[in-house]
Amino acid sequence: MTVKHKLALIGCGGMARSHVSRFEELMDRLEITAVVDIDIERAKAVAELLPNDPVVSTDHRDALKVCDAVLLALPHHLHCEYTIDCLNAGKHVLAEKPLGNSEEECRKMIEAARRNNRTLMVAYCMRFHPLVVMMKDLIQRKAYGRTFQLSIWTEQHTEREASNWMCRADTLGGGQLFSHGCHYIDLMLWMMGKPVEGSHIGTNLCTPWMEREGTSNVSIRFEDGSCGYHFGTWGARGTKLGYSFQAHCEEGMLEIDYAKGQLLLHSRLEKHIPGVQENKNSVKVLLEAPGIKPTSIEMKHFLDCLETGATPLTDAESSLEGLKVIWELYKAEDERKLADLTGIINKFK
Ligand SMILES: NC(=O)c1ccc[n+]([C@@H]2O[C@H](COP(=O)([O-])OP(=O)(O)OC[C@H]3O[C@@H](n4cnc5c(N)ncnc54)[C@H](O)[C@@H]3O)[C@@H](O)[C@H]2O)c1
Repeated sequence: MTVKHKLALIGCGGMARSHVSRFEELMDRLEITAVVDIDIERAKAVAELLPNDPVVSTDHRDALKVCDAVLLALPHHLHCEYTIDCLNAGKHVLAEKPLGNSEEECRKMIEAARRNNRTLMVAYCMRFHPLVVMMKDLIQRKAYGRTFQLSIWTEQHTEREASNWMCRADTLGGGQLFSHGCHYIDLMLWMMGKPVEGSHIGTNLCTPWMEREGTSNVSIRFEDGSCGYHFGTWGARGTKLGYSFQAHCEEGMLEIDYAKGQLLLHSRLEKHIPGVQENKNSVKVLLEAPGIKPTSIEMKHFLDCLETGATPLTDAESSLEGLKVIWELYKAEDERKLADLTGIINKFK
């Protein structure tokens, strides 16, 4: 018999709505029994999207009476307190990224999950995207030889009112790199392994609503000598690349065209001859996965882990590794130095 998990949503803003809109195919495995937001209208609006009649409240303690697990989608400075409350009430938690705003907060959350013997998973949805999963597999199997450069671009326009929690460094926990770039630092570590050194340069030029950077550039060198680069901006008023992932390997370049939902292999058919303008390249589609909803695959994984007791792929400990890299990069940026990243992570090979 299928177990129906009773899930509460705590925080009913943009991300919670996005999750709910992608849950249709999971409705035989979960029931959203409560929706909570300090703004009751937001909680009601999410309740209206649901087939059942959940508890609607401004107080998360009402939700804890009627659920087994929680999807927590709150402003970052509230992640630690609410996650620990839910774990102490015996609930499993799928917490939106980033786990917490400091290493101390993250460690307290990890300890609360351990003490209560509950699952704490971090919603790094990109790790569940089939195109990303296949790119990682090809890189790690050296299917096209060694990878010497992984570059990731994410270009968006994300603007909030000055009073919004996302504008302030203390409530957001940092800037664009911490809030959004954490997905891609996590992916880079997952694909490329241990970092040895790196740098971050950010700016809030043209994203004046951001106290810290709205545009971020990260360069990392990994243990095997390869390089990683991430450019993320919330200031793009136009874009060509949108979201693009490119891995240069010895035998070609792997590309995820996120908008088209394709993983491509670009390879040169002939050796480049200086002065000869026409380069013969071949482009092969390795995987087509348009319209994928990675948050739905992520939720399915969370439910699978609750049923089997397996450790989630994006467990709290491994998610902390990426945040530690970000904090070292920020520190080095403030000191105008290159960050020494050796020995700061253990989870990724
Ligand atoms: N995985 C992704 O791609 C992705 C994308 C966007 C946001 N997120 C994450 O989702 C989380 C929420 O972000 P968002 O964009 O939905 O923000 P949001 O501001 O739209 O929503 C946050 C909600 O929390 C509510 N809230 C604030 N304090 C509360 C409290 N004490 N109790 C109950 N509710 C409270 C607010 O009223 C608001 O509705 C963040 O961790 C963010 O990083 C993830």
